[in-house]
Amino acid sequence: MLLSLKFSVLAIALQLARVLAVPALQPYDSLAGLTRDEVDAFARSVKVVGGQPIPKPIKDTSLKLVNDKKHPWKPLRAGDQRGPCPGLNALASHGWLPRSGVATPGEIVTAVQNGYNMEWTRAVLVTYAAFLVNGNPLTNLLSIGESRGMSWLTGHAPPPPALASGLNTHGTFEGDASLTRSDAFLGDNHSFNETLFQQLIDISNKVGGGKYNVSAAAEMRFQRVQDSIARNPNFNFANPRFNTAFIEAVFPIVFFIDGRLQEAGETGLDLDVMRGFFQDHRMPKDFHRRGTPTGASDSELDFVMAAHDYVPGFNNGSVNSFVADPNFMGTQTETVCALYEKFVNSTVSLYPSPHGDLRKALNKNLDNFYVAVESRCDQIKPYH
Ligand code: HEM
Ligand SMILES: *[C@@H]1O[C@H](CO)[C@@H](O)[C@H](O)[C@H]1NC(C)=O
Ligand SMILES: *[C@@H]1O[C@H](CO)[C@@H](O)[C@H](O)[C@H]1NC(C)=O
Ligand SMILES: *[C@@H]1O[C@H](CO)[C@@H](O)[C@H](O)[C@H]1NC(C)=O
Ligand SMILES: *[C@@H]1O[C@H](CO)[C@@H](O)[C@H](O)[C@H]1NC(C)=O
Ligand SMILES: *[C@@H]1O[C@H](CO)[C@@H](O)[C@H](O)[C@H]1NC(C)=O
Repeated sequence: MLLSLKFSVLAIALQLARVLAVPALQPYDSLAGLTRDEVDAFARSVKVVGGQPIPKPIKDTSLKLVNDKKHPWKPLRAGDQRGPCPGLNALASHGWLPRSGVATPGEIVTAVQNGYNMEWTRAVLVTYAAFLVNGNPLTNLLSIGESRGMSWLTGHAPPPPALASGLNTHGTFEGDASLTRSDAFLGDNHSFNETLFQQLIDISNKVGGGKYNVSAAAEMRFQRVQDSIARNPNFNFANPRFNTAFIEAVFPIVFFIDGRLQEAGETGLDLDVMRGFFQDHRMPKDFHRRGTPTGASDSELDFVMAAHDYVPGFNNGSVNSFVADPNFMGTQTETVCALYEKFVNSTVSLYPSPHGDLRKALNKNLDNFYVAVESRCDQIKPYH
C-alpha cells in the first residue's frame, strides 16, 4: 500500500517534471522542434482537436457592406495579437476573425472570403501554407501575431529548441522586402514602419497620381528589393518569398479599394485608407468588399512582375552579392507547384518524424493544402 502510494507520487512527480520540461507554449504556438515527449506532454495539457475539414466556399459573393453594425472596429485589448498582415489584422479588429487574433485555419478561410471576397482556392492556399509552418496542429489554432510560429514566418528565428535545420537554410526563411516593415536584419521586422510608408507615399505621388495603383506597386516592390540587396547581407528573395512579395504588393489594390469604387472603375487605393488598414487595422467607414471573388493572380500581378527584371535568389552573406537560386523550381515545372513543394518541404524540415495525433493532423492539413493546387500539381505525401 505504502509502496504503491510512493510509486504513484513518484509517477506524478515524473509526469510533472515532463510537463514542466516543455518550453512554455501557448495553445497557438507551433510545435516545430519539440521532441516526441514534449509533444506528448503538450497534448496532455490541451484539448486536442487536430486537422479539420476545410469550410465550403461562401455562397453569397456579392458586393456588400462589411464594416457594418455587427463588425465595428475596436481598439486592441491587452493580449490581443496582431501581426504582419494588414488584411488579417483588420479582419480581427472588426470581429470577422476572433478579436484575440487567434483563429483556426477554417475561420481564416471563411473570414477572408466574407471580408474581402478573396476567392476560396486562394484563401485555402495561403491559409494552409501559413498554418502548416506556423500553426499548432494539435489545437488547430494559429496566431496572426507574433507567436513562436508567426515569428518564424516573418523572419525571426524561433527560440531553441524550435531551430529546425531548415531555418538557417536560404529559402525557408522568409519575409524580407515587405512594403511597410523592415527586414529582420535591418530593424524592427514586424511593426508598421513610418519611414517605409513615407516612401510608399512618395512613389504613389510620383507615379500613381497620389494613389497606390499598380504603377506605384511596381515601383515600391522594386525599390524595396533594391534596398534589401544593398543593405541586407542576408537578403532572401527565393521561393516562397519571391512569390508572396509580388502577391502582397497587389493585394491592397485588389482588396482594400471599396467595391463600389472598383465597379466605378477606380484602380488606385486612397493613401489614407491604406494607412488605416496598414497602421490601425481599420477598414474605412462604410467599407464595402469587392463584388466578385478573386485570387489576385492575374493582370495586376503580371504588371508588377513585368515592370522590372527579377530573379528569385539571395545575397550570399554580404551586401550587393545577389545570386539566383539554382533550386527555385525544386522538382516542379509550374511555379505554383514549386511553391506547394516548398511549403511541404518546410513542413517536413519543421516536423521531420511526427507521431500519433501530430502526424494525423499534419497529414490532414497537408491534404487540405493540396486541395488548392490539385488541378495542377501532383500530390506530395511526405508522411505516408
Ligand atoms: C488567407 C490568409 C492570409 C494569410 C495566412 C496571410 C499572411 C500574411 C503574412 C504572413 C504576411 C507577411 C509576409 C512577410 O512579409 O513575410 C502577409 C502580408 C500581407 N498580407 Fe496577408 N495573409 C492572408 C490574407 C490576406 C488578405 C485577404 C489580404 C488583403 C485583403 C492580405 C494582405 C496582405 C498585405 C498587403 C501584405 C503585405 C504587407 C507589407 O508588405 O507591408 N493578406 N500576409
Ligand atoms: C524603418 O525603415 C527604415 C528604412 O528601411 C529603417 O532605416 C529603420 O531602421 C526602420 N525603423 C525601425 C524602427 O525598424
Ligand atoms: C526582429 O525585430 C525585433 C524587434 O526589433 C528584434 O528584437 C529581433 O531580434 C528581430 N529579429 C531578427 C531575426 O533580427
Ligand atoms: C497609375 O496612376 C497614374 C496617375 O493617374 C497613371 O498615370 C498611371 O497610368 C496609372 N497606372 C496604370 C497602370 O494604370
Ligand atoms: C559573395 O559575393 C561577393 C560578390 O559577388 C563575392 O565577392 C564574395 O566572395 C561572395 N562570398 C561568398 C561567401 O560566397
Ligand atoms: C524539396 O525537397 C526535395 C527533396 O529534398 C528536393 O529535391 C526539392 O528540390 C525541394 N523542393 C524545393 C522547391 O525546394
